[in-house]
Amino acid sequence: MSRQLIIFDTTLRDGEQSPGASMTKEEKLRIARQLEKLGVDVIEAGFAAASPGDADAINSIAKVIENATICSLARANERDVRAAGEAIQPAKHGRIHTFIATSPIHMEKKLRMSPDEVVERAVAAVKLALEYTDDVEFSAEDAVRSEMDFLVRVFDEVIKAGAKTLNVPDTVGYSIPFLWGDRFKQLIARVPNSDKVIWSTHCHNDLGMASANSLAAVMNGARQVECTINGLGERAGNAALEEIVMAVRTRRDIFDFDCRIDAAQIVPTSKLVSSITGYPVQPNKAIVGANAFAHESGIHQDGVLKHRETYEIMRAEDVGWGANKMVMGKHSGRAAFRARLQELGIVLENEEAVNAAFARFKELADKKHEIFDEDLQALVSEGEVQQISEHYSLTSMRAHSETGILPTALVTLTVGGLAKHAEAQGGGPVDATFKAIEIIASSGTELQLYSVNNITSGTDAQGEVTVRLSKGGRVVNGQGADTDIVVASAKAYLNALNKLHSNEEKAHPQI
Ligand code: KIV
Ligand code: ZN
Repeated sequence: MSRQLIIFDTTLRDGEQSPGASMTKEEKLRIARQLEKLGVDVIEAGFAAASPGDADAINSIAKVIENATICSLARANERDVRAAGEAIQPAKHGRIHTFIATSPIHMEKKLRMSPDEVVERAVAAVKLALEYTDDVEFSAEDAVRSEMDFLVRVFDEVIKAGAKTLNVPDTVGYSIPFLWGDRFKQLIARVPNSDKVIWSTHCHNDLGMASANSLAAVMNGARQVECTINGLGERAGNAALEEIVMAVRTRRDIFDFDCRIDAAQIVPTSKLVSSITGYPVQPNKAIVGANAFAHESGIHQDGVLKHRETYEIMRAEDVGWGANKMVMGKHSGRAAFRARLQELGIVLENEEAVNAAFARFKELADKKHEIFDEDLQALVSEGEVQQISEHYSLTSMRAHSETGILPTALVTLTVGGLAKHAEAQGGGPVDATFKAIEIIASSGTELQLYSVNNITSGTDAQGEVTVRLSKGGRVVNGQGADTDIVVASAKAYLNALNKLHSNEEKAHPQI
């Protein structure tokens, strides 16, 4: 019987540390629900002490997730551990993940602590965390550059203190597979009682080897892999969940493990994370890239047609590609709509939300006669987008483009209850639309990213637009979907402005 590999997803914590990938509580909840559906064992939902918003998001996720363990990160100090303990308190299964750096460079230059102090802090943090949960994980940050003897000492002490999972991070993405595997082999051989704990690997992708290093660790005794959807994460990112899971599944001859992941949910999860964070997936990305299963050369196409396995080691449909199902059209009724949402695992808060989503569905069905699952997902996202208090909303717009003439846009917004109009010219209709919105909003923001993805195929597909705006150091992503990409762009821009506005209101309630 194959053994269980624990999949620890840190998209909502390390993934969120990607520049510009910060998410609202509602967005995090949506991703957490999808991660649960995907079947991950642990969801690292955030870093409670980082901000009250982070603690609140972890707490809300802990209230709704049933099966996965909900984890909060905490530095090895009292304030962080208590914040983590309180945030995970409603979880059915809660974990505190405490860490401290153990490499000479980090201890000396960053922490300014002696090795003895570091050991003392690690032990104290684990003991304090045990007051909140018996599921405590300890990470030796920058383990990759830590001295082996010192790592053995720290891990020995935290096991004695009660840690159940020991995480060995390649914080700076410096290792290579055979060295990383060897590190696990040595640690497991040398740390007393190493068989009483779970060994975990956490790799960053600075040299493009995060997944390979993680798998080398698995081959040498790691039983938990920390990873993120699409490999999102600090700098070059973390090991990609989809790569780890499919490597283990596809090479069962090498890895005698299994995990609880429902692989058919991989692509939907990847798309959701990409659309919420605004991080597009590169077309040639393994498993989840648009071309991952596309065969261009005639020789390959011929081979695949004769016998699929000549050039394919995995089936696209097994990881959730091609599940584009034509679900409904404009004649579909409420009951069918509700049933399909349920099948997709989409939970709407109340009857009012179902009614609003159904109204949007009918509107869309008038413009596009085939409605796919992805369209329904976008409809629901749109509903969530509208839940953010709408200081700015789109009343109407008209954009004009014609060869030889500068494009123009005329936009009417409702701003704090008042109708406002503006007209502008731009390099294209989207540029003109954003300029018209800015004439009204004068937001002082900087556009950092604009991306459009088609939700399904065909020229009548909805375009899903992500806009990233920054202002005074704060970065937000806005999303919008519509069959008209200029309208989708306006919605995405306004969604981002509304997020910034609601943050400003929280910071300065008198405004
Ligand atoms: O990369 C890292 O070292 C981390 C730790 C906090 C686990 O993310
Ligand atoms: Zn990390």
